[in-house]
Amino acid sequence: MAKMWAGRTSGLTDKIADDFNSSISFDSKMYRQDILGSMAHASMLGYKNIITKEESDKLIDGLQTILTDLESGSLAIDLSAEDIHMFVEQVLTERIGETGKKLHTARSRNDQVALDFRMYLKDQITTIKGLLVQLNKALCEKAKEYAFAIMPGYTHLQRAQPITFGHHLMAYAFMFLRDIDRLTDCYKRTDVSPIGSCALAGTTFDTDRVYEAEKLGFSEVCLNSLDGVSDRDFTVEFISACSLIMMHLSRFSEEMILWSSWEFKFIELSDDYTTGSSIMPQKKNPDMAELVRGKTGRVYGDLMSILTVLKGLPLAYNKDMQEDKECAFDASETVIACITIFEKMIKTMTANTENMKNAASKGFINATDLADYLVGKGLPFRSAYKISGSIVKDCIKNNKILEELTLGEYKSYSDLIEEDVYNAIDLKTCVEKRISLGGTSFNSVLSQIEYVTKNGAK
Ligand code: ARG
Repeated sequence: MAKMWAGRTSGLTDKIADDFNSSISFDSKMYRQDILGSMAHASMLGYKNIITKEESDKLIDGLQTILTDLESGSLAIDLSAEDIHMFVEQVLTERIGETGKKLHTARSRNDQVALDFRMYLKDQITTIKGLLVQLNKALCEKAKEYAFAIMPGYTHLQRAQPITFGHHLMAYAFMFLRDIDRLTDCYKRTDVSPIGSCALAGTTFDTDRVYEAEKLGFSEVCLNSLDGVSDRDFTVEFISACSLIMMHLSRFSEEMILWSSWEFKFIELSDDYTTGSSIMPQKKNPDMAELVRGKTGRVYGDLMSILTVLKGLPLAYNKDMQEDKECAFDASETVIACITIFEKMIKTMTANTENMKNAASKGFINATDLADYLVGKGLPFRSAYKISGSIVKDCIKNNKILEELTLGEYKSYSDLIEEDVYNAIDLKTCVEKRISLGGTSFNSVLSQIEYVTKNGAK
């Protein structure tokens, strides 16, 4: 059958070309946005007397029946159609006759697709933000539960200084808070209506772009029609925000995987979110965390795709731009699935506080505190650091830990060391004394929880 755009050409394309050209297998996801956009357009055409009020109403009613039927399942998407825009227009014309052909007045698929895509991504952004808020809620709850659980903090994956598990969990909550903020920012630039830009140059009809934008809940309209149909910055920003979320989830996954290994045994993931091995009966594998780590690669790939598609495209619309959607949909769906499973994994995980504490008790994690103690007694930090370092060195040689040295042994390094040294190097003291803003002290972690709880849903 000849295409709706037959004119200059016969519109009779080869079947292979049709399949290659078609985007309906993925852009049918935007059927809702497409129909709502068309309803707003029909309404504007009537309001501006470009078509009659009756024609406008007829178009809107027809579009409404299509939406209802698609949602109830009584109308199926025809996968042989070129794209969702052509499909809807074709069904409309079949249903209401000649008037259906008036819908595309003062419009092009170029501004139509840009509109649908922005509306779709706005919804996705809102969904992802909501999931991140939920994830942070779960993190805050866990952090509260373990605000007093001492564990080793690491640098270079070497035991560094004692922290609490609550403090560690809250570090991720702050990353997700920034992710929420980034999505809010990206939303702002997605929330700009391109409809009315038409093919590229605007239109000779006396349209009202602001009316349409307001009807569809956009805060702004784009002010250059060429930019309106060519701009996919919002897609790049969206997938970039998704990539950062995945990067955070992936780092977290890596830690969950390490922590649930026999070597660490810091946490136990719920049976609901782990798998067994088909051959090794002792295995409890953190597959969900591993998959999240793995899927991060996909989303980074999506980001590379969109950046590369756009690079070097002349203005305005080019068919290359049809390639913008699959990567954005994939990034969005992957992020949604990953946050959803992550929240459940966090909620159901338990910490082995005994093992964490034991790990923190070895490895001279309080050596900085010993140096700080000497500074408190009047030594410059560099000299105190040297003394603490040589005590650690001798302890390692003699297979001892700092808590086991006698006061006499301590005094052989410095006369300034008194009985109070034992309290100063006690792990609980080490944590409690880190009261600096953002530090690991119990009160500080509780304020962090309060901050995230208050600012999470903004
Ligand atoms: N399916 C197309 C896309 O996603 C719609 C826009 C088509 N525009 C055109 N001038 N052929 O990009």
